[in-house]
Amino acid sequence: MAAFQEKQLPKDAPVSAKALNWVDSRFPLTSTWKAHLSEYYAPKNFNFWYAFGSLALLVLVIQIVTGIFLVMHYKPDATLAFASVEYIMRDVPWGWLVRYMHSTGASAFFIVVYLHMVRGLLYGSYRKPRELVWLFGVAIFLCLMGEAFMGYLLPWGQMSYWGAQVIVNLFGAIPFIGPDLSLWIRGDYVVSDATLNRFFSFHVIAIPLVLIGLVVAHIIALHEVGSNNPDGVEIKEKLDANGVPLDGVPFHPYYSVHDVMAVAVFLIVFTAVVFFAPEMGGYFLEYNNFVPADSLKTPPHIAPVWYFTPFYSILRATTSDFMAYLMAGVAAYVALLVFRSQRSGVFKIAAIVIGVAVIAGMAIFDAKFWGVVLMGVSVMILGGLPWLDHSQVKSIRYRPSWHKYVYLVFGIAFVVLGYLGVQPPTAVGTMIAQIGTFIYFGFFLLMPWWSALGRFKPVPDRVTYHPH
Ligand code: HEM
Repeated sequence: MAAFQEKQLPKDAPVSAKALNWVDSRFPLTSTWKAHLSEYYAPKNFNFWYAFGSLALLVLVIQIVTGIFLVMHYKPDATLAFASVEYIMRDVPWGWLVRYMHSTGASAFFIVVYLHMVRGLLYGSYRKPRELVWLFGVAIFLCLMGEAFMGYLLPWGQMSYWGAQVIVNLFGAIPFIGPDLSLWIRGDYVVSDATLNRFFSFHVIAIPLVLIGLVVAHIIALHEVGSNNPDGVEIKEKLDANGVPLDGVPFHPYYSVHDVMAVAVFLIVFTAVVFFAPEMGGYFLEYNNFVPADSLKTPPHIAPVWYFTPFYSILRATTSDFMAYLMAGVAAYVALLVFRSQRSGVFKIAAIVIGVAVIAGMAIFDAKFWGVVLMGVSVMILGGLPWLDHSQVKSIRYRPSWHKYVYLVFGIAFVVLGYLGVQPPTAVGTMIAQIGTFIYFGFFLLMPWWSALGRFKPVPDRVTYHPH
């Protein structure tokens, strides 16, 4: 091991320089600052879409800080929880503000993260070499969903209670182990104090720890390979004599100042919601959740919060009548893999075996189970994007123009599924959700084919940039 060495500064050096030197000899403070901020070279053509990563970090901090203050007054006990939230709202000084910031922050988190993901989709940011950045992102998204679901039980209102009851019961649909599994998750035969306690523990400590770890891994992975940009051009391929990308600018101060601007705009909207519309018409805080949980009174319409509803719609669309269409879909997809893919014979045989097993499973197990499977797969499939996209270029800017319409149809299907998920089910709504489910999965599963089709535009050597 090299001997410890401290840089020698002149005797009359400022105290601050001496203090920094003392720290730097013991901890990589300046070098970390340089590597991740002042000498992290980001493409100079970033646009507003690139602010959502920093905004997601901001919302994470808001949630953690407000969460810490909420826990000081909240009681994770089925007989006290609802009243403790009311106490926070009415008696704790500024408690209403802290609570509304936290509840609005939950929806803001999903808005920001969905936009952050859309950016990745548009510019192909998940493609090589950023597959791990994306996979860490998908893991973050899963954690975020778990965090929001468990947090929602804590106020112990009617929607908290019945929402958890419905979702935990879904696990009961899994063949053989289902009933035991949902009993194990709840810790009781119904959602109860035991459930509240374990959800509290996961919500305040276990999931946030994992989330923070994943966010750190996400950013380390990104800084290892460098940021993508709206042109999808790899700036590390054109370096100057010092090894600095010709099209790169230091993240700090050039983008830190952009991000401060984005933070200001975000905070204007965020505070407007917190102060003037914290319930957001029942979308951010559902009206039924201002009624204490009652295990004897099932609300007529149980719907999850808006950010879960596209996936919830896929679950509800999977009725027993729909199973025949799903089986036909699986059979057609296997035929496509066998006759229209360049993959090896072993791959094709595996596809046939898996396809037959899935179709047999669909005939044997009931639709409720397959709804749960489809809902799970609809989130997990995001992780497959780096391998499903076979386009020659990363960014939508240089893809065939009609690809934009494919993204548009997918986007519309996602929003319509989301809308239907908050509405009580109807025959027509269910049919539209079923079409939406086909579009949703078709977008991903057919991507290896459609993403490679059409006339691609030439990608420039250097990023396109107009000074402003
Ligand atoms: C707590 C949630 C998250 C935080 C705090 C976060 C943070 C960040 C930050 C700070 C950046 C760099 C700035 C930027 O490019 O916007 C970034 C980039 C990126 N994030 Fe996230 N992220 C989160 C969730 C996600 C999710 C859910 C996904 C996808 C499933 C994702 C995918 C990406 C990708 C692909 C990039 C690279 C973009 C590029 O270089 O074009 N992130 N993230």
